[in-house]
Amino acid sequence: MTSISVTMETINVAVLGATGMVGQRFIQGLVGHPFFEISDLTASSKSAGKPYSKATRWYLDEHIPDEVKDIIVKDTKPENVKADIVFSALPSGIAKVVEPEFAKSGATVASNASAYRMAEDVPLLIPEVNPEHLEMLEVQRENRGWDGAIITNPNCSTVMAVLPLKPIYDNFGIEQVFVSTMQAVSGAGYAGVPSMAILDNLIPFINKEEEKVEMEGLKILGEFDGSKIVPADFTVSASCNRVAVIDGHTESVFVKTRDASDRGGIDIRAVKRVMREFKAIPQELGLPTAPENPVIVREEADRPQPRLDRGTQNGMAVTVGRVREDPILDFKFTCMGHNTIRGAAGASILNAELLVKM
Ligand SMILES: NC(=O)c1ccc[n+]([C@@H]2O[C@H](COP(=O)([O-])OP(=O)(O)OC[C@H]3O[C@@H](n4cnc5c(N)ncnc54)[C@H](OP(=O)(O)O)[C@@H]3O)[C@@H](O)[C@H]2O)c1
Repeated sequence: MTSISVTMETINVAVLGATGMVGQRFIQGLVGHPFFEISDLTASSKSAGKPYSKATRWYLDEHIPDEVKDIIVKDTKPENVKADIVFSALPSGIAKVVEPEFAKSGATVASNASAYRMAEDVPLLIPEVNPEHLEMLEVQRENRGWDGAIITNPNCSTVMAVLPLKPIYDNFGIEQVFVSTMQAVSGAGYAGVPSMAILDNLIPFINKEEEKVEMEGLKILGEFDGSKIVPADFTVSASCNRVAVIDGHTESVFVKTRDASDRGGIDIRAVKRVMREFKAIPQELGLPTAPENPVIVREEADRPQPRLDRGTQNGMAVTVGRVREDPILDFKFTCMGHNTIRGAAGASILNAELLVKM
């Protein structure tokens, strides 16, 4: 485990990449947090030296919190940061270089970037799904000799599917999953998709996204054998699309279970029940960012919808609807969640809360 000292006075935290889409969500989730206090904000050298309110292009509905607007943004270097936990919302290429430097300097890095998600000794964590993978930090420390650590959260599309699939995996087993995503533009960052490309349009390609969705869930649902993760034994096929929605990734998910193939069909009511009843350690511990129910199942024929459902339980719940039989596989459903909250900053904050409590 890492060297965070928990006095239950607040722990100093920093946000790396604080001026971006995910960085802003970190600030929203951390201001007034009972465990954490923001001590430092960093970004690129073009933002360094400016007060946060001048460095960022704020896109959230509420105003920039007073607690951060005058903080001077620093260059993203360990020597500029005095925090015990650093939340990383850096582009992956930068994260690959910088995150190990922070871990080496003694900080625990809770990262959103994809750079280390699939590394053998780095936990890829959804606290409701695989909290036991935090044990990998012992292996990480031995391998890397860091005083700090890196923990990661999954890609914003992976988490929306894996949360509802976890109770299915535990209760029925899974053989195959097909997933087709309809992903919001905020998922690409502020400068990600030009308006002329996406308005009145759909783009049926997101660079490297399908590979992430196909691999990450198997690591998350895999078993830690004391030295490495043995991935879950099923296949995932993903098709990823960008749509003209600001926030909220929607996904159509098709599932073949292990049990139903033996019994000649699946009980849809049982599928909905296990999703509805699903709760785990974050709920038991009452972690501040944990939703009361990680998965909400709705019965209306036309839900979930991003505009109506992305704010459910402060953006931390995944809403599922249209659970029904599938004529090719066993059953299918639609799921939707807030990509920059449950899919990014909120996920990372929940990871850090779990680490602190465990
Ligand atoms: N958006 C999502 O839904 C989502 C979901 C899950 C994971 N992620 C991941 O989270 C990370 C951030 O995504 P985002 O959407 O917030 O991107 P973004 O809006 O483009 O923000 C990028 C941030 O990184 C900083 N940055 C850029 N180049 C830098 C450099 N050379 N050194 C230090 N800082 C630098 C930027 O600072 P300046 O303002 O100074 O340029 C900005 O603060 C990415 O790795 C992304 O893949 C995003």
